[in-house]
Amino acid sequence: MKAATWTGVNEVSVEEVPEPTLLNDHDVILKVTQSVTCGSDLHLLGGYIPFMRAGDVLGHEFIGEIVEAGPAVRHRKVGDRVVGAPFAACGNCWYCKQEEYSLCDNGNANPGITEGLWGQSPGGCLGYSHAMGGYAGSHAEYIRVPYGDVGTFVVPEGIDDTRALFASDAASTGWMGADLAGTKPGDVVAVWGAGGVGQMAARAAMLLGAEQVFVVDRVPERLQQVREHVGAEAIDYSSTDVLAELRERTGGRGPDVCIEAVGMEAHSSGAAGVYDQVKQQLRLQTDRPTALREAVMACRKGGSLFTLGVFAAMVDKFPLGAVMNKGLTLRGAQVHAQRYIPELLERMERGELTTEHLATHVMPLSEAPRGYQMFKDKEDGCVRAVFTPGS
Ligand SMILES: NC(=O)c1ccc[n+]([C@@H]2O[C@H](COP(=O)([O-])OP(=O)(O)OC[C@H]3O[C@@H](n4cnc5c(N)ncnc54)[C@H](O)[C@@H]3O)[C@@H](O)[C@H]2O)c1
Ligand SMILES: [Zn+2]
Ligand SMILES: [Zn+2]
Repeated sequence: MKAATWTGVNEVSVEEVPEPTLLNDHDVILKVTQSVTCGSDLHLLGGYIPFMRAGDVLGHEFIGEIVEAGPAVRHRKVGDRVVGAPFAACGNCWYCKQEEYSLCDNGNANPGITEGLWGQSPGGCLGYSHAMGGYAGSHAEYIRVPYGDVGTFVVPEGIDDTRALFASDAASTGWMGADLAGTKPGDVVAVWGAGGVGQMAARAAMLLGAEQVFVVDRVPERLQQVREHVGAEAIDYSSTDVLAELRERTGGRGPDVCIEAVGMEAHSSGAAGVYDQVKQQLRLQTDRPTALREAVMACRKGGSLFTLGVFAAMVDKFPLGAVMNKGLTLRGAQVHAQRYIPELLERMERGELTTEHLATHVMPLSEAPRGYQMFKDKEDGCVRAVFTPGS
């Protein structure tokens, strides 16, 4: 079958790879109808997340039809139209029982690498490096989803594929950020990054009752989507002093909740940006925490910060003094999609949550290299490139 694979730093190819087969009794095989790029893939492409091998199939946000189900699968059947969760989770371990699915103790068959790096291993992610389980991803005609009863969700008929697709990752990640940061009715929330994840975090904050929601970015088409489709206020950091603006708009206090949806490749034009680039390229730090630093400085005293943006290991010049002295709560997580997808599908069906505007570029899987290049360079207003393997 055809699949889009990582073939080296900044190289994506479309290749023939073996079709997946059922390996465990709980597996299902999906015929993929749509699979979409994610900001997390850019960290793989850029070589910032290690343990990729040439030929690894990319993709972890997808919708498709079940074509095979293992003998232990109880709640899904051949023919079901489902969205898949990015992280493989067993549904039975201590973490899964706390609904912390991306921390599943059984989801990563290669826990040694991340145990060494982080002290414990989180779960495994489809299409995401051998450090995270080495599973083949969804940019392919077919994908094997482990623990099919836990990792797939039947899509109600009233929701079309492109809307449902984003329940998989962008919308569930955004929702998790707003939820676990403790967003309450009346709060002021600021989000850094207007990609799919940041936009969905902002929308979630609004649906959870936030009174004012700001999204910070510099890409005009994305800021326009924030205004038009999310209904939040857009701040262009290339022409605005973000800290001053947020202070001014919040009566001097700062946002109650700050959500970072940028991650380890944050852009900065100032001296700090040059410093971070050089240190990252010399491997003296693995990540560039520009947006996270700004969020810490912006957050009101006693406020809450959540990093949805992916960080790999070490950051430099992190304002820990501000975190401590301002009494901030700082959290982060990979997406516990299984916890949020059912509720998101209900909200999508009711029309409260729309996502299809994120699919700015839809193309056959054979055009994945071009899709990734457009997504990476934000060319032609690309927010997400969606691949349709069947076409
Ligand atoms: N926690 C999770 O489970 C999870 C899930 C999906 C994605 N992610 C991560 O979330 C982050 C965002 O994902 P995405 O798909 O929206 O990515 P994306 O690449 O589409 O968007 C990132 C946005 O951040 C903006 N940006 C860059 N530097 C900035 C700065 N200094 N201040 C404000 N904005 C800045 C960019 O212009 C871009 O619009 C990535 O790090 C990705 O890896 C995490
Ligand atoms: Zn993702
Ligand atoms: Zn588990």
